[in-house]
Amino acid sequence: MVPDTLKQTGLAFLPSVFWLVFAVAIAVVVSVVIYLTHLWFSKGPEVGVCRCETRMDGKTVIVTGSNTGTGKEAARDLARRGARVILACRNARKAEKAAEEIRKSSGNGNVEVRVLDLSSLSSVRDFCTHILQTEPRLDVLVNNAGFSPILRIRSKICYCPRMETTDGFELMFGVNHLGHFLLTSLLLDLLKKSAPSRVVTVSSGGHTLEPRIDFKDINFQHNFSPTRAYRRSKLANMLFVRELAKRLEGW
Ligand SMILES: NC(=O)c1ccc[n+]([C@@H]2O[C@H](COP(=O)([O-])OP(=O)(O)OC[C@H]3O[C@@H](n4cnc5c(N)ncnc54)[C@H](OP(=O)(O)O)[C@@H]3O)[C@@H](O)[C@H]2O)c1
Repeated sequence: MVPDTLKQTGLAFLPSVFWLVFAVAIAVVVSVVIYLTHLWFSKGPEVGVCRCETRMDGKTVIVTGSNTGTGKEAARDLARRGARVILACRNARKAEKAAEEIRKSSGNGNVEVRVLDLSSLSSVRDFCTHILQTEPRLDVLVNNAGFSPILRIRSKICYCPRMETTDGFELMFGVNHLGHFLLTSLLLDLLKKSAPSRVVTVSSGGHTLEPRIDFKDINFQHNFSPTRAYRRSKLANMLFVRELAKRLEGW
């Protein structure tokens, strides 16, 4: 419907011009978004590739959750550069398979598997006892393993329900933060003895979306949300390494 006033002033075409401009504007915005998304995804993996060629001969490295994903690729790269690499994984069979593949592709036979289940504090303690008994040095600890809120069940993708570690902590907080916290603490003397050594903890940009720890409900007993629990565990990773760096200043 064109208002009479517009008809009388000879401006009856204005509404259609408005809709045309509006449609063009929407098309431009959508195209820019598609272009930027494409740019982001096509550049994304590139920025994350480690091209460091520094040799790691004589150094010992532990990578948690290294039977797959970023942990496996980090382990492969460190093995390629000559390090002794210990794959710290919860599933020995999967880890052995990954170790064999890494040995072959890197040409480094010094790749070992040790069982570590970060959802069990006694497993973390056993792992560390074994390491302290057998490893004279530890140069790099990569806290990489992570339990994500997304599960794939029979090729369907869904969010995980609230679950707990064997010690009764909310699973993501327990695995991603508490397990690594205990692991790092128990291995700290060995890391110090091997200085200059490194602790690398893999976090996620998601921590910025959950910028507060609720100490009154640290275990997510109330209002559990899988994504918020994951982000909070990643925030805990960040806070932990920042405090650790402060405390280890001068080492
Ligand atoms: N992928 C991403 O887009 C992304 C983005 C930001 C940050 N990150 C972070 O990057 C790290 C690695 O992620 P990814 O994508 O490589 O994940 P992934 O492919 O799912 O690998 C996760 C690893 O963690 C292990 N893990 C899970 N629960 C464990 C437990 N209780 N004890 C010991 N190991 C356990 C898994 O073992 P199983 O194979 O036995 O399950 C697996 O080896 C995580 O810390 C994650 O939060 C990932």
